[in-house]
Amino acid sequence: MKKIEQLYEGKAKRVYSSDVDGVYIVSYKDDATAFNGLKKGTISGKGVINNRVTNHLMKMLEKKGIPTHFVQELNERETAVKKVTIIPLEVIVRNIAAGSLSKRLGLAEGTKLGSTVLEYCYKNDDLGDPMVNQYHIAAIDLATAQELEIISDYSFRINEILSEYLKDLKIELVDFKLEFGRTDDGEIILADEISPDTCRFWDSETGEKLDKDRFRRDLGGVEDAYLEILKRLLGE
Ligand code: TMP
Repeated sequence: MKKIEQLYEGKAKRVYSSDVDGVYIVSYKDDATAFNGLKKGTISGKGVINNRVTNHLMKMLEKKGIPTHFVQELNERETAVKKVTIIPLEVIVRNIAAGSLSKRLGLAEGTKLGSTVLEYCYKNDDLGDPMVNQYHIAAIDLATAQELEIISDYSFRINEILSEYLKDLKIELVDFKLEFGRTDDGEIILADEISPDTCRFWDSETGEKLDKDRFRRDLGGVEDAYLEILKRLLGE
């Protein structure tokens, strides 16, 4: 499979058309940003790790009945994925208070939530990805009510599957962000990535942060944290 033309460059990935109909190629970068691009840096080896971690988790989710865009890993940084139109929503799932939820609700980081929290943000860099609810989503036509029901059902199910899987690896799934896409046939499938860039992973025993918060908050040991996640998930 060959890349034909760059279609899009995001903060962490590039997307290309390919010589196969209905298939795109994503290429993961080492570039890291935070706070809507205000903080910029590089995490050496991040692209390779996020590519491999994402594919590992997407394959696992497929086996458990979640449709994803994953087609085939092409090399250490690049993966063939199904062509979709991304629904412009960041779907955030939370099990434990951290980050923006802790700030907004005045909850200490690490407070266990009584039940799973689902949030939607409108993917729009100019607006800083504002939080929206199902009424905003319907009113400005980001997704239909039926699509949103599928998205929320998948998101809760993904949370159960991932939380259980990571628990055995001594990783606590604090929160994470998902994106979904629409195929040409109108099917909703999981897209984008699931990686230390888009999840909060805490070591279950020590509470150590093994994710992008190490970069966001200048905690040091960023590369080692990403490598630790790769090691625990893929055994290398
Ligand atoms: P938050 O606490 O900053 O709202 O982040 C919640 C989760 O979403 C966390 O696991 C990090 C992830 N996330 C992204 O993947 N992309 C983003 O742009 C932001 C702000 C958060």
